[in-house]
Amino acid sequence: MDISWSHAVVRARDVNAMALFYEDLLGFKVADRGSLGPPGGGGPEIIFMSGRSSDHHQIAFVATRGPEDASSLEHVAFRVPSVADVQEMVERLDADDRVANHAAVTHGNAVSVYFSDPEGNGVEVFCDSPWHVKQPQIQGWDPTKTPEEVLAHVEESFRGKPEFGPMDDYRAKKAKEFGEE
Ligand SMILES: [Fe+2]
Repeated sequence: MDISWSHAVVRARDVNAMALFYEDLLGFKVADRGSLGPPGGGGPEIIFMSGRSSDHHQIAFVATRGPEDASSLEHVAFRVPSVADVQEMVERLDADDRVANHAAVTHGNAVSVYFSDPEGNGVEVFCDSPWHVKQPQIQGWDPTKTPEEVLAHVEESFRGKPEFGPMDDYRAKKAKEFGEE
C-alpha cells in the first residue's frame, strides 16, 4: 500500500497560544477553526494549520488536553491513494486482534478510518475526496459499499455544507496564498 505522512493532531491546553507560536516561528497559517461535535457546537475547539496546498492541515490543535494528560498526541494521519486502499486497511484492522475497534468516518474532504496502536496512540488512514468543505465536519461511511457508492454518499452528505467545492479549486487558491509555483 502506498502510504505517506500527512498530519498530526495535538491535544493542547491553550490552542490559541499554540497556533500563534506555530504561525510566528514556523510560518503555518490557520486553515480553519471551529468547535468539534456534538452538532450545534459546544464541543472542544480545534484549530487547523497548514503551509502547503497539498494538505488542508499539516498540524491541528484541539482543546482537550487536561492537566492529567501525560500525552499530547490525539492522532497521526497517513494518506493512501484511494477509497479501496482505506477499505483494505479496514479489512486488516478487522482481522487483527491487536485492534479493539475502529471508526470509519468522513470529513467531506477525506474518507478515513481511525484506530489506536497498541500503546493507545490515535492513527488515521485516509484518502482525499474530490471535494473541499469547511472544517471541522464529520459523518460515518459504510466500508461495505463500493468506492463509487462511498464517494456518492460523501458528496450527498456534504454538498450543502459551507465552502463545498472541487478540491482542485481549493488547492489552487491555497497554492497562490502560500506562494507555490
Ligand atoms: Fe486527521
